[in-house]
Amino acid sequence: MKRLFIMTALLLSVSCFTSTECGEESLRSIADKVGIYIGYASANSFWFLPDASKYTEVAKREFNILTPENQMKWDSIHPERDRYNFSYADRHVQFALENNMLVHGHTLVWHNQLPFWLSTQWTKDELLKVLEDHIKTVVSHFKGKVKIWDVVNEAVSDTGTYRQTIWYKTIGPEYIEKAFIWAREADPEAILIYNDYNIETINPKSNFTYQLIKELKENDVPIDGVGFQMHIDINGVNYESFRNNLKRFADLGLKIYITEMDVRIPKNATHQDLQKQAEIYAKIFEICLENPAVQAIQLWGFTDKYSWVPGFFTGYDHPLIFDRDYNPKPAYFAIKEVLKKRITQGN
Ligand code: XIL
Repeated sequence: MKRLFIMTALLLSVSCFTSTECGEESLRSIADKVGIYIGYASANSFWFLPDASKYTEVAKREFNILTPENQMKWDSIHPERDRYNFSYADRHVQFALENNMLVHGHTLVWHNQLPFWLSTQWTKDELLKVLEDHIKTVVSHFKGKVKIWDVVNEAVSDTGTYRQTIWYKTIGPEYIEKAFIWAREADPEAILIYNDYNIETINPKSNFTYQLIKELKENDVPIDGVGFQMHIDINGVNYESFRNNLKRFADLGLKIYITEMDVRIPKNATHQDLQKQAEIYAKIFEICLENPAVQAIQLWGFTDKYSWVPGFFTGYDHPLIFDRDYNPKPAYFAIKEVLKKRITQGN
C-alpha cells in the first residue's frame, strides 16, 4: 500500500515537473473567473506544425482568445486585386470557435505585409476604393465570428506624427476615419480598435495617438478601443506612466486591449533574467487588472519556440511564458498568481 502511494506520488511529480497537466488550474479558467480574456497570437498554419498536437493542446487549455499572427494580413488574405484567400484565416477562426475562444482580427489597414499588386501608383480615389473593398469584404466574411478588429495598425510614427505610408501619402489622414466607418458598416457588432506599439506609456507617440483618437471620438467616428501592443524588453516600462496612460485612454470611453505582449530578454538569458521577466509580466498584469477598461491581455505567441523575437531583435530571445518544450516559465506562474489574487480580492 505504502509502495503504491510512493509510486503514484512519484509519477505525479514527474508529470507536474514538465507541464501544468497535473490538475493545476489553467490560465483561462482563472481569467474566466476574473472576467478578463487571456490570449495569444496563433502561429501560421499551426495545424501543419510538426508538434501541432502539443501546440493546440496547450493553446486551448490556457487561452480564451486568439489573434492570427499573420494570416489575416493583406498579403495572406488578399493576394491579388480580384482574389481573396480566406482558407488559412478560416482555420484559425474554426479552431477558436471549436474551443470556445474569441477571435481578434489583425489587421485591416497597415503598411507592412502588403501584397505586391498594391505597390503601383494609385490615385486617391482608386486607393480609397481598394481599401473600402478590402475592409468590407474581409469584415463581412468574418461577420459574427471575429468579435474584435484591429482596424488601423501603427498609423503613428515613433516621433509622434502621422506615419508616412501608402495610405497616408495617397489618401491623407482621412483614410483612418474611413476605415472605421467601413468596418462598422460591415459588422455593426464588432469592436473596432486602433492598435500600435510604444504607446503604452506617456510619450510623444502616445500623446499624438491620444489626440488622434480623441478627435475621432469627437467626430463620431466609430472607434471602440485602443490596443497597446506591448512588445517590451527586460527593462520593463515606467509603471506609473503606464497606469496613468491607461487611465487617460479609458477616460475617453475606450475599451483597452493589450494586444501583442512579449518581454524579450538576452539570448543567453540567466536564471535572474527569467525572474526579472516574470516580475515585469506580473506588474503589467497587476496594473491592467486595476483598470476595468482593460478587456484582454494577449501575448504575441505563447511558446518561445515560435516567437518572432529572435528573427527581429538581434541578441534577444525567450520573450513568452512557455519555453521551447512547452514548459511553463516563471512568468507563467507569476501572472497566474496575479490573476488568482484578483479572484480572492474580488473584482
Ligand atoms: C509580426 C509577426 O510576428 C511576424 O511573424 C511577421 O514576420 C512580421 O509581423 N506589430 C504587429 C504585428 O502589429 O503584426 C507584427 O507581427 C509584430 C509587430
